[in-house]
Amino acid sequence: MTDKTARFTTGGDASIELPVLDGAIGPQVVDIRKFYADTGMFTYDPGFTSTASCRSKITFIDGDEGVLLHRGYNIEDLATNCDFLEVCYLILYGELPNKEERRKFGYDVTYHTMVHEQINQLVRGFRRDAHPMALMIAVVGALSAFYYEDLNIRDPRNRMIATFRLIAKLPTIAAMAYKYSIGQPFIYPRNDLNYAENFLHMMFAVPCEPFKPNPVVAKALDQIFILHADHEQNASTSTVRLVGSTGASPYAAISAGIASLWGPAHGGANEAVVNMLREIGSPDEIPHYLERVKDKNDNFRLMGFGHRVYKNYDPRATVLKQSAHDVLTELGKQDEPMLKIALELEKIALDDSYFVDRKLFPNVDFYSGIILQAIGIPTSMFTAIFAMARTVGWIAQWNEMVEDPEQKIGRPRQLYTGAPPRDFVPMDQRG
Ligand code: ACO
Repeated sequence: MTDKTARFTTGGDASIELPVLDGAIGPQVVDIRKFYADTGMFTYDPGFTSTASCRSKITFIDGDEGVLLHRGYNIEDLATNCDFLEVCYLILYGELPNKEERRKFGYDVTYHTMVHEQINQLVRGFRRDAHPMALMIAVVGALSAFYYEDLNIRDPRNRMIATFRLIAKLPTIAAMAYKYSIGQPFIYPRNDLNYAENFLHMMFAVPCEPFKPNPVVAKALDQIFILHADHEQNASTSTVRLVGSTGASPYAAISAGIASLWGPAHGGANEAVVNMLREIGSPDEIPHYLERVKDKNDNFRLMGFGHRVYKNYDPRATVLKQSAHDVLTELGKQDEPMLKIALELEKIALDDSYFVDRKLFPNVDFYSGIILQAIGIPTSMFTAIFAMARTVGWIAQWNEMVEDPEQKIGRPRQLYTGAPPRDFVPMDQRG
């Protein structure tokens, strides 16, 4: 609690004093929970640009400074010094693991990598050309039909097992979606490989040949997983919390998060970046596309640019820009036209008053698509990979919400702009 308050005039001489809450860092928050009860008015905030929907200890973002912290640790430090499961542990439990904790956590997760054989039937029910995200929404939601005990979400042990299951099975399900789309047999997980290596194995191995994951590629993928692991109350995380607030199964909540992530304004952007760079085709064409961006009658936007929160360079993009160079050099693809166009586009845009005035900088998706494409991941799988990585953030936020004594079912109100009350007209009297 705090003794600070903020006073707001609510019309005429009337005013209201509301408590002001302090976070550990970041802006202060006006507590409006009693606002309606005391004034009879709602607050209006479509898109929630000024609304803190919960208390959270997991992730902090300073969009003006371009800072992203998980449990207080800087994302650049985590991305360069940790592996993905280490970061998962941090996000879930609040502290970096020691050696034994990391080993045990790795065991607990890998123990759950296989999916029920019946899931194979479910996947085979889809058309071969189904988008992997459509399949993942269905299959992850369907896990609630396989794990009834996890439906008692008040039991911390059940929540922990659901957490392990989701982190472990998402790569298996995503790789199954890909294998099914190209008509190859499903490849079972290998628990002797690390998280990223195992995913590459399930994506690219075939039963008739040995497969050895490239360590440079696996490292780059692991870094992509780390950089996408959590991002506080974004659209998909808020979706998970909202669905979870009703007491729904964690699998249903995560399935809803995947659905929310799918849109091109959110997780679908890295796929859109690659499509856009392909369409631009050559650095010479960039000015034409910048003209399109500025044309009010054209709704073309630079994909991978701009962010609701970051009004500075997205710190994740800084890490990935370097990683894109490293991976493409390692694979002998440093002259890849896509990278050249991306670098040139970024250079021109960062100097252009349209982008400068609106504080539009490259976001995490700008470079992740280039890396994924270079390592042979098809564009349709980009968002699926984002979903795999974000699962730890979603499930950590869901756990935090379930344990929060202030948690209530999410239920926003509205500014009604429809018809006023009117008399019913029977059908035979309607014009
Ligand atoms: N290209 C060109 N102009 C842009 C872009 C862009 N990528 N993004 C925003 N703008 C312009 C808008 O046209 C608007 O201009 P105006 O004031 O002249 O009308 C102004 O910048 C503000 O844009 P909003 O849409 O109000 O900003 P908002 O915060 O709502 O949008 C969003 C954020 C959705 C990410 C937006 O920047 C966008 O569409 N970017 C492209 C898609 C993308 O990269 N998404 C990934 C986000 S990161 C993630 O989800 C992991």
